[in-house]
Amino acid sequence: MIAVVGSNMVDLITYINRMPGPGETIEAPDFRMGCGGKGANQAVAAARNGAEVLMVTRVGNDAFAANTRANFVANGISTKYVLETEATSGVAPIFVDESSQNSILIVQGANARLSPEDVAAARADLAQCSLIVMQLEIPLPTVYYTIRLAKELGVPVLLNPAPAQPGLKLSEIADCTYFMPNESELALITGMPVTTLDEVRAAAEFLRRKGISNVIVTLGDRGVLCLNDDGETFTPPFPVAAVDTTGAGDAFIGCFSHAIDAGLELPVALRRAAFYAADSVTKRGTQYSYAEAKDLQFPA
Ligand code: RIB
Repeated sequence: MIAVVGSNMVDLITYINRMPGPGETIEAPDFRMGCGGKGANQAVAAARNGAEVLMVTRVGNDAFAANTRANFVANGISTKYVLETEATSGVAPIFVDESSQNSILIVQGANARLSPEDVAAARADLAQCSLIVMQLEIPLPTVYYTIRLAKELGVPVLLNPAPAQPGLKLSEIADCTYFMPNESELALITGMPVTTLDEVRAAAEFLRRKGISNVIVTLGDRGVLCLNDDGETFTPPFPVAAVDTTGAGDAFIGCFSHAIDAGLELPVALRRAAFYAADSVTKRGTQYSYAEAKDLQFPA
């Protein structure tokens, strides 16, 4: 079983021709509301790939909470630790432009209340898991606590440092088995340039020297670079006509989590995840764009 200790949000996706200027009102062609949040997205992607998933998260005490909970249930995800709190649910206004690029604001809401105590309360169930997946839309002390707990329990951790937090302490995350930033997160965390592949490699090597076993950098339509004890694995992108890239990184991580947890070799898991994420950008919406794995023909 995979545990996701992370966020959930309500995605308010507006499709735009351009952003309005200060004081300006303009019309946008389309809108879609859906379940999102990097934690929930990764949980749903893993579940749609066949994983058994346990979600540890906090929803608000508002109208959004029931829908978020129902969405987990509909995806077969355990809601035993979907906790309700006196706050608004997390919300993400998202703007997707004509070139398929997205700009995202997040209001953490209840996610900001997910505490180390909440994770401690799930200890017995987390001990039964074979992988714990996290992101940075919950408080850093909770992330650090979970990494320490996972080490004590002997459960590997996958950390996706998104959104990047300049205050992230590398000494606290060195025990992660998989560290999966995108290029801008890598730049912010290391303070190093990442324009060329050589620069990305140097920044990833810097993180490896801090003690992280597998540094996996997602480079969007430039592919994926993984550095570990075995050397380097480069996974080329699957070229597709993108219409909405929102949540593609989460699709990648959810699919990868299931694949690696199911025992696939790392290069195979990376290729499978790249294919799954590429498929997701050909459709609009965040979780709406995540296929059921049985409906896809993955490359060998
Ligand atoms: O990674 C995409 C996600 O980021 C969206 O679903 C939004 O909720 C934000 O968390």
